[in-house]
Amino acid sequence: MRAASILVLAFLVPSVATPVAAQAGSASFAAAHEPGAVPQGTPTFYANVVPILQQNCQSCHQEAGMNMGGMLAPWPLVSYEDVAPRARRIANAVRAGIMPPWSAAAIHKGTFANERVLAEADKATLIAWADGGTPAGDPADAPPPPAFLSTAVATGGWSMGEPDLILEFAEPYCLSDDADDVYVNLPVEITADMIPEDRWIESVEYRNGPAVHHIISAVGGLVPGAEPSYYPDGYGRVMRAGPRRVMFNMHFNKQPGPGTAMCTNIQAGIRFKDEGEVIKYVTGGNQLRIRGWEIPAGESSYSASMEYTFEEDVELMSFMPHMHLRGKAAMYEVTYPDGRHETLLHVPNYDFNWQHTYEFADRPIIPAGSVLRFTLWWDNSAENHYNPDPTADITWGLPTHAEMSQGYMNFRRLREVNFVVGDPIPADVGGDQEANEAN
Ligand code: HEC
Repeated sequence: MRAASILVLAFLVPSVATPVAAQAGSASFAAAHEPGAVPQGTPTFYANVVPILQQNCQSCHQEAGMNMGGMLAPWPLVSYEDVAPRARRIANAVRAGIMPPWSAAAIHKGTFANERVLAEADKATLIAWADGGTPAGDPADAPPPPAFLSTAVATGGWSMGEPDLILEFAEPYCLSDDADDVYVNLPVEITADMIPEDRWIESVEYRNGPAVHHIISAVGGLVPGAEPSYYPDGYGRVMRAGPRRVMFNMHFNKQPGPGTAMCTNIQAGIRFKDEGEVIKYVTGGNQLRIRGWEIPAGESSYSASMEYTFEEDVELMSFMPHMHLRGKAAMYEVTYPDGRHETLLHVPNYDFNWQHTYEFADRPIIPAGSVLRFTLWWDNSAENHYNPDPTADITWGLPTHAEMSQGYMNFRRLREVNFVVGDPIPADVGGDQEANEAN
């Protein structure tokens, strides 16, 4: 294993309530109705629909909703006026399984702490409500609004709370009318005033301007669809003192055309741990990258894989497979030293638009000597409607029209370190100054 870890894309703990089990709603709501009359048994907005939206949708669909790498839910789904006109679209989106966004195989239900899975009964309720003419019902039936609705607004959009430090580019980055995909490394200077001494990071959240597609940086990367990352009590990650320079590998993306030129910036908000807290475990990770492949033109299911051997005992925290537009499926399997084999993550329908991090609820313990097999599949045929060019042979490259083959992985070392926040941080625990080979 490469000595200290590469701390890229570290999303550890979900920031939002995970969906809870099915509501009282049931699939038996009558769909037939006469105009003007609320059919018997039709669910109402306040009694039946609001609880589903609170638990499954409003973390993103709210005013100042979660900014997932510049990707924002298009409108709030909070008030009756927000939701009723969109009832049909909502019904279609949940029926098709595109909302809420999530891509792990059904066998993993319950495995990931941040899963977004809508119960069948809840889907049926939303569909029946749309079919039944979207009755409002009695506002007194609605549960109180969840606290996260007011937090994000009160802090101006930081769902983790006010940051201790905000990193941004000294000047906004400007894109011309012609620009579509732009890849550039941009520095942020960290002065000694900003971070006089090494600190332990508690959470990182990005709030980006338009056209920021994704960011990879040692401070924690950001991709569309990503939530803020948190380091829970007892876990930590180091941010080294200034003065120094942190590079951000930026990918900007917009539609080209007259009048589309714009300037944009990022904000990486960072909160630090309080003095006195004990960091029991240092979190680390690794960026797997499958090498030596070329996807032939027209091939509908090309796969490549690699193996990685764990050299010390770790507890797995999360995985994040990363491909581009031809990405089709991903799999992480492990063979333990005693020969047992387990599929840790299968993503049967990879979707480039949603770069999910899969965070284990019960973190698997991986003993030293275990072998991880990481496999990816691509669809380079014309059947893949995202495919920009099915006639090209494709290899690794940064632009969206080339492919990537990354598998990010976060774990904590089982060795306890017990650092006290405020004490000097030894050099060998790693930190965000390490180079990363994200590109
Ligand atoms: C993790 C954040 C997130 C959650 C949770 C979420 N959405 Fe969305 N939703 C989005 C984003 C972002 C878009 C815009 C997608 C795009 O631009 O491709 C979207 C788009 C939509 C659309 C428009 C889709 C279309 O093309 O017609 C509907 C309808 C929708 N969401 C409903 C819901 C409902 C209902 C829920 C809960 C059951 C939900 N969403 C949960 C982030 C979210």
